[in-house]
Amino acid sequence: MAKRKVILDVDTGSDDAVALCAAVLSPDIELVAACSVWGNQPIENTTDNTLRLFEALGVDIPVYRGCDTAMTKYLCKNYVELDAWRLRPKAMRGGKEISMHSAHLPLAPTNRKAEDMPAACFYVDYLRKSKEKVTLIPVGPLTNVGLALRIAPDIVDKIEEIVIMGGGSKITNHDPWSESNIFHDPEAAQIIAECGARVVWVPLDATHRAVITLDDCKRFRDIGTFAANFCASQCEQRIINHDAGQPLDIPHAAAVHDALCVAYVIDPTVLTDLRHCHVEIGLDGYGSGQTIVDQRAYPLERNGWFAFDGDRFKFVDILCDCFQRDKSTAQVLEEA
Ligand code: BDR
Ligand code: CA
Repeated sequence: MAKRKVILDVDTGSDDAVALCAAVLSPDIELVAACSVWGNQPIENTTDNTLRLFEALGVDIPVYRGCDTAMTKYLCKNYVELDAWRLRPKAMRGGKEISMHSAHLPLAPTNRKAEDMPAACFYVDYLRKSKEKVTLIPVGPLTNVGLALRIAPDIVDKIEEIVIMGGGSKITNHDPWSESNIFHDPEAAQIIAECGARVVWVPLDATHRAVITLDDCKRFRDIGTFAANFCASQCEQRIINHDAGQPLDIPHAAAVHDALCVAYVIDPTVLTDLRHCHVEIGLDGYGSGQTIVDQRAYPLERNGWFAFDGDRFKFVDILCDCFQRDKSTAQVLEEA
């Protein structure tokens, strides 16, 4: 079967890094490029982290630097945000505080540089020229893809599917009403929701179900490749953070959100409750960045597919299959 052409849009980031490894190594995916966006870290870091990871994996995939902030949200000086993060207990390892996403991935620095063309322009240029349809997997704030669709709505004809990590129906993380990626650029998310392409939402409802446990990390380490060890280290870091401040139903486990989107592209049955719904994004005040899913018997026009559940065992199997294909000799560095 032909490989699916994919572009990942990342704010790398621990779970973005696992998603990138899976996409690079999957025999079902041809990763044609990665676009960076600000989010988990500033754009300089998310771009550099993506370049470092490609160097470590020994692949020559172009990286296009994307937007360093939202399209419009932060122009408004009094947007509403409840700073709930500071209330959380700190995550500690070896007496040191660790965050969900390190500023730099624990990989050797690289001299590689991002391409000159900005990410939004790359989408327009690449998709217009492409003879095949391409799958987009944006797993950070949606600014680059939203902007590209705003500049050139015709590119929708070249999009196979847009698989978004973002949103939550019953579960949120950034605010009582929003998930981080959608919170950061709700206008871009709304542009995508209404663009007319097939849009699949992989929200917290699914990613908090298809979790990765410490036992799964041990299974990764037993594979022994660079990708398996590196992803185990990123997942373990996430587990410490979840246990400290964002405990899940299963103890000593982490949501590895972004990688679930890639797993879905490899095997759609990893999302087990995918419903055709109307999805709308809150754009104002309290509720800005909320994913509003119309679940009434007679809903507004269905414009997307929203995942309510995921299969954690299948997810781990898919990742293991990818990691064992890695031939890289790179090393995972000690966290600074
Ligand atoms: C999303 O926000 C980021 O912190 C993660 O990388 C993921 O894409 C989860 O809310
Ligand atoms: Ca992300």
